[in-house]
Formats: sequence, C-alpha cells, structure tokens
Amino acid sequence: GNKVLDILNKIKNEIDTTLTFRRSCAHGVCGSCAMNVDGVNTLSCIKSHKDIKGDIRIYPLPHLKVVKDLVADLSTLYRQYESIEPWLKTHSPQPEGKERYQTKEQQEKIDQPSACILCACCSTSCPSYWWNGDKFLGPAALLAAYRWLQDSRDEATDERLKELNDSAKLYRCHTIMNCSFACPKDLNPGQAIAEIKRMIVTRDL
Ligand code: SF4
Ligand code: F3S
Ligand code: FES
Repeated sequence: GNKVLDILNKIKNEIDTTLTFRRSCAHGVCGSCAMNVDGVNTLSCIKSHKDIKGDIRIYPLPHLKVVKDLVADLSTLYRQYESIEPWLKTHSPQPEGKERYQTKEQQEKIDQPSACILCACCSTSCPSYWWNGDKFLGPAALLAAYRWLQDSRDEATDERLKELNDSAKLYRCHTIMNCSFACPKDLNPGQAIAEIKRMIVTRDL
C-alpha cells in the first residue's frame, strides 16, 4: 500500500508488535488514525508516503497527553464535544404521524458541518487550544456546536448561544485558521466559529 497507515501496519505485523496506534476504517471515514505526519496533522490512512522525501517523521497529535506511542489522550476533547449537547433539542410537540421535515436548502446548511469525523486534527493544530485546551472548546467542538445552531429543527438556538458566549469557551479563538487548513475532510471550522460570533452579536443576547 502507499499510505502511511500501510507502513505502520507493516511495522506492527512484521517488526514490532508492540507499536500502538489507532485505526479502524482505513478509508478516511472513522477519524481514528489521526496523527502528525511530516509536521502536519492528518489521517494516516489517506496520507500517501510517496509525497514525502527522505525519512517520514510520525508523531502523535500535538499537545495532548500521550497514552502510548501514537495514541493521544482525547478525553478532554470528548468532554468538550459532550458539553455542546450534540443532539436535537425541541420544545414544540412532535408533528402528528411524521418526522420533523427539512427543505433541501435547510438540509444543505448542516451538510458540511455534519461531515466532521471528530478526528481532532483541527483542535490539535490550534495554538490557542494548545495553551488553553482546558477552557477553550476548540474548533472541533465548536464546529459541532455550529452544526446544531444551523439545524432548522433545533429550538434551542438562544440557549446554545448563551452557553457559548464566554471569553474562554469561544473567544479564545483568534482566527488563526490553522484548524481549517488542517482538516482532512476539507471542512471549515474557523469560518463556523466566526459565524457563531456573528450570531451572538446579531441576536443581541
Ligand atoms: Fe477532524 Fe475536520 Fe472535524 Fe476537525 S473539523 S475534527 S479536522 S473532521
Ligand atoms: Fe484556532 Fe482555528 Fe480559531 S486555528 S484560533 S480555532 S480559527
Ligand atoms: Fe478511519 Fe483512518 S482509519 S480515518
């Protein structure tokens, strides 16, 4: 194979079975094989080693505790994801005998942010998250928050924005944009964060 993950599998299978790394789908879908390859956070299962000249330097995702070898501790990131309450919140009764429908245009607004695979490449590329990862929610969790703010069926927009309107949770983003550059799924968490800030201002919370 020509992917960095193929090399890691070969090392594990043939040279050192103790080498530890996460992987599952091998097709850029599950997000578990995220690591830093040649100075860039990426998914090792989609990164070709043919593009890299000389030795390939592979590290765990930056600025997280390392559990073992290439396995970084993502517990803080998962807690932050949980804190944005990533589920549909409604107050109105369920429409009789049918689901809560969306128009095609409404669905398209959540299409992109829903494609996030929570790989953490973005948050671990953000200098603000490196230094304040215990307080700043970081781009991965904030993109997930944005996904629910954009959902036409969700009825907790003000409640969600009030929760996010916090000098540490949201405003530690200084629009550095490493996050959008790092995303292996071509998503734009930096823009989503800017949009959340705009929503807070325009809704006058
Ligand atoms: Fe990964 Fe992109 Fe989602 Fe960040 S926004 S967690 S980089 S898929
Ligand atoms: Fe960090 Fe992205 Fe903001 S890199 S500072 S979260 S735009
Ligand atoms: Fe699933 Fe790489 S193994 S994204």
